[in-house]
Amino acid sequence: MSDKPERFIDDEGLRLDGRRVDEIRPMKVEMGVLSRADGSCYLEWGNNKVLAAVYGPRELHPRRMQKPNEVLVRYKYNMASFSVEDRIRPGPSRRSTEISKVSGEAFEPVVMTQYYPGAVIDVFAEVLQADAGTRTAAINAATLALADAGIPMKGLVSACAVGKVDGQLVLDLNKPEDNYGQADLPVAMTQDGEITLLQMDGHLTPEELEEGLEMVKKGCQQIIEIQREALISRYGNEDEEGEEAE
Ligand code: CDP
Repeated sequence: MSDKPERFIDDEGLRLDGRRVDEIRPMKVEMGVLSRADGSCYLEWGNNKVLAAVYGPRELHPRRMQKPNEVLVRYKYNMASFSVEDRIRPGPSRRSTEISKVSGEAFEPVVMTQYYPGAVIDVFAEVLQADAGTRTAAINAATLALADAGIPMKGLVSACAVGKVDGQLVLDLNKPEDNYGQADLPVAMTQDGEITLLQMDGHLTPEELEEGLEMVKKGCQQIIEIQREALISRYGNEDEEGEEAE
């Protein structure tokens, strides 16, 4: 692991990767990258590279696991063994089990589960290259993979972290900021601003928490725009098409 930097923010207010404190890393997405999945999305965010694949809705076996009145959404987050500096032992870990659980729950308010009672929707999020913020990157990719699979949703979910370094709040932590910072707060929210995932490592004062959530909201709004553009470039803008047809 690299050594702790002496400072994270210089006199000009710039971070080690040249960003301002309220700037997210560049994000690039591509939908429909896997032909055997019902929906998929490849997402790059800074140096993170993640792939999300959605299978279903399909019949759930064993049948005793079926939910009679709604579809079961299963979310599996996995880090490839080659995705980090030190090789990760393949297979589930406490960390990946926890991330899978809370990330799946982040979609509960938006997925319209009543449409496919007894069925299952499987979401796989594979981290190919990790550089801090992989759970949020995976959620951003999974939203688009769910939309690509045609799963009815009330809206999109976007996710971003805020944290604290050198006593200052910073949006979308990079690896050194995550490793050596004073706090890390990953958040996911619906496009209406309803928080669907919130975790915290480290310490923030109540005032910092409030300010941090405002920063994260702005970051998530930018991400929603990127997600929307990806959807429009893949499926077109129905409103515009409707207007043209008239
Ligand atoms: O990736 P995320 O920020 O959601 O989760 P984290 O547990 O805060 O991990 C931060 C970063 O540490 C990851 O993105 C990886 O780059 C790195 N990491 C690692 O190198 N080995 C692990 N076993 C777990 C994380």
